[in-house]
Amino acid sequence: MIPGDGIGPEVTAATIEILDAAGAKLIYEEHQAGVAALKTLNDPLPEATLESVRWNRVVLKGPLTTPSGTGFRSINVALRKEFDLYANVRPAKTIKPGGRYEDIDLVLIRENTEGLYVGVEHFIGLQGDPKAAAESVMIITRFGSERICRYAFEYARANGRKKVTLAHKANILKYTQGLFLEVGQAMAKEYPDIEFEDRIIDATAMLLVMNPYQFDVLVMENMFGDILSDQIAGLVGGLGFAPAANIGSTCAVFEAVHGTAPDIAGKGLANPTGLLLSACLMLDHVGQAEPAKRIRGAIDTVVRSGDVRTRDMGGTAGTREYVDALKRALS
Ligand SMILES: NC(=O)c1ccc[n+]([C@@H]2O[C@H](COP(=O)([O-])OP(=O)(O)OC[C@H]3O[C@@H](n4cnc5c(N)ncnc54)[C@H](O)[C@@H]3O)[C@@H](O)[C@H]2O)c1
Repeated sequence: MIPGDGIGPEVTAATIEILDAAGAKLIYEEHQAGVAALKTLNDPLPEATLESVRWNRVVLKGPLTTPSGTGFRSINVALRKEFDLYANVRPAKTIKPGGRYEDIDLVLIRENTEGLYVGVEHFIGLQGDPKAAAESVMIITRFGSERICRYAFEYARANGRKKVTLAHKANILKYTQGLFLEVGQAMAKEYPDIEFEDRIIDATAMLLVMNPYQFDVLVMENMFGDILSDQIAGLVGGLGFAPAANIGSTCAVFEAVHGTAPDIAGKGLANPTGLLLSACLMLDHVGQAEPAKRIRGAIDTVVRSGDVRTRDMGGTAGTREYVDALKRALS
């Protein structure tokens, strides 16, 4: 368990309280990463944390601060690289009533290790200006495309999903995006029971707003997935409700989609639902579906009743009141 930065310690503590109340059979080993680790251990990703992840292979993680532009590189990206967490699974399911849409039930599967986020970038100096230009390299491999498309089709099959949409920009980026599309189209033939379509990423973004019900499972490369997964979180009430699983071949990291929320950190206002739903994905992953079901049921009951909602849900409750309401619903 990595509490993380900002609201991280608040939402992880709330989540563990609910996991215990729901009867989850888990033992936690706590380790630091991010700014918290930099301050106390002088290293944003200490070896003891890496060793614990290698040993335990299942991580519940709070958000970590990433300085923009300068400073240390993203620890989230470093964890993804170190443990080859290639599949980022982000379900978006409506809980909040009265939002823009009802009954949204989508899953976005984002390739997590390739594309522009490989971090191959540099400045190009020209006529005395060391930053006359900047270049980032997009890397898409057949291997990476095959394993994420495979994951998406297998996920669809295992979870009773009907359709996979591959979103891409192969019309412009004919090599990188073209390879991703070619792999997905070929693999679709192995899954005649799953409907397959491919769509240009910009059209997909528009259609997700116009008629999100036409989608089911979406699969795409790293940066497109990064952007659209926040968009689908917006369809179901915002970042406070968005869980994520980062799946690798040897270990898995479960975290909320939101960041450290520095504006409300330490004020007891954070909504822990994103991390709680991530913890439910973790429980499913380790074969404890029953407490996961109970927690999802409690969240649904409390949020839909509308009596106790945190501020981001339009209510006035703090984290404590919300957690207490969830515990009452559980019992
Ligand atoms: N997985 C991660 O570790 C992760 C993900 C995204 C951003 N970050 C980092 O977080 C920091 C802040 O990023 P940001 O401000 O762009 O995004 P953010 O998600 O932290 O905050 C955006 C807005 O949403 C609100 N919010 C977010 N989570 C909330 C919650 N659980 N309950 C109530 N309100 C919530 C915040 O108060 C803020 O107004 C940055 O350093 C960024 O790099 C980390």
